[in-house]
Amino acid sequence: MGTEVILSLYFFGNIGDGAVPDRCKGIEFDAITPDEKGVTLFFKGDHLWKGFHGSIQLANESFKELDDNHHIGHVDASFRMHNTEKTGDHDHIYLFLDDKVFRYYNENLEDGYPKEIQEDFPGVPSHLDAAVECPKGECIADSVLFFKGQDIHVYDVATKTVKTKTWSHLPVCTSALRWLEHYYCFHGHNFTRFNPVTGEVSGGYPKDARSYFMKCAGFGHGGNYSTPKCSEIKLDAITSDDPGKTYLFSGPIYMRLDTKRDGLHAFPITRTWKEVSNGVDAVFSFTNKIYMIKDDKVYIYKSAAHYTLIEGYPKTLKDELSIEGHVDSAFVCPSENMVYIIQGNTMREVDLTATPRVVTQDLPLPLSDIDAGLCGPEGIHLFKGGLYYHYESPMTLALSRIAPFPQNITSAMLGCQD
Ligand SMILES: *[C@@H]1O[C@H](CO)[C@@H](O)[C@H](O)[C@H]1NC(C)=O
Ligand SMILES: *[C@@H]1O[C@H](CO)[C@@H](O)[C@H](O)[C@H]1NC(C)=O
Ligand SMILES: *[C@@H]1O[C@H](CO)[C@@H](O)[C@H](O)[C@H]1NC(C)=O
Ligand SMILES: *[C@@H]1O[C@H](CO)[C@@H](O)[C@H](O)[C@H]1NC(C)=O
Repeated sequence: MGTEVILSLYFFGNIGDGAVPDRCKGIEFDAITPDEKGVTLFFKGDHLWKGFHGSIQLANESFKELDDNHHIGHVDASFRMHNTEKTGDHDHIYLFLDDKVFRYYNENLEDGYPKEIQEDFPGVPSHLDAAVECPKGECIADSVLFFKGQDIHVYDVATKTVKTKTWSHLPVCTSALRWLEHYYCFHGHNFTRFNPVTGEVSGGYPKDARSYFMKCAGFGHGGNYSTPKCSEIKLDAITSDDPGKTYLFSGPIYMRLDTKRDGLHAFPITRTWKEVSNGVDAVFSFTNKIYMIKDDKVYIYKSAAHYTLIEGYPKTLKDELSIEGHVDSAFVCPSENMVYIIQGNTMREVDLTATPRVVTQDLPLPLSDIDAGLCGPEGIHLFKGGLYYHYESPMTLALSRIAPFPQNITSAMLGCQD
């Protein structure tokens, strides 16, 4: 009786022959890597998930050579190459099975593969547990970290040399992933974030992978967001800061658009700006600060590693910017001091270096009901539903009598579905 119960539990938590794994049941992945498009691939047995939300499929549907020589079809480790040298392997995907390495681009196996692992990676052992790229800046040189047991083999891409370290404080990683500049070791259904140079772990780890890297009922942080169609998108705001981080805001969520190499992901706004709990009307960036407008309030955050609300905020729009009424959108052009605030079919100019702040100009617009506006090196984009309008500069926008022909928002711009 007792034995039967234990056996059935065992069978449930593990994958028997022919059984289809369910990543929401808490499984251990064999390998995880982003692909050349930024979609994260999760391997388990002969199956694969594409993306944090994707459904399960057979791994050989995408990587058809995987079972030619290996009937088990089980990937030990995988990573996406980061190579700043012009060697032609940048963003190519490496999959490791036993003593072989397979290199893919766009799901096509490349000539000469599979190879013995040591032909491509001299000094790296076979039968790996995990692998992850580590670009220069995050590691000392462009490197790949190979995991086997508690040993980490740090492979230098340029010199093709290996240094081995032992990180015995870290769990044995069955897969590893670099995501949004951070490094994750996966073990069981948990993961632990580590420093790729020292192996150091700080913060409350391990955490459950189901709450962060996949969409599972009963897990996560209320990230109940599905990618809208581009024609149906409704932005609230969009902004780009000096270091080049670009954020899109829509309802309760935000997305960073400058991290396409890691895919686009929606997060609740409150995850990063916890006081802004009711969405935003307009957002702009100026001198390492992000200004968020909602109703008649302005929230100003200092941006460093984290955003922190400046003391005394939120303040009223009137006190901060000498503006009253609903704001549709706001933007600052690179290296300018003016914020352009769009309200209905009026654009108001406010000098952010003047005290007190005053509206220096009211300009009529040939458009109204703008959702969001962004000014960058390519000029101004004004977004309205699934369409956008492009202008060379604030001056051409203010001087135009008729609206330019609208263009469709594309998935390449905003990560929506075409
Ligand atoms: C793909 O994998 C499945 C399960 O391992 C196997 O049954 C099937 O024959 C494979 N398909 C091809 C085309 O190799
Ligand atoms: C996952 O982490 C939790 C603590 O957060 C721990 O209690 C549990 O044993 C871990 N499970 C596995 C399979 O590593
Ligand atoms: C997620 O969205 C669905 C439908 O849009 C809704 O019914 C559900 O309550 C939402 N769940 C959460 C946790 O917000
Ligand atoms: C925008 O999309 C619509 C239908 O989706 C199409 O009819 C129209 O031609 C497109 N406009 C442009 C400028 O591409």
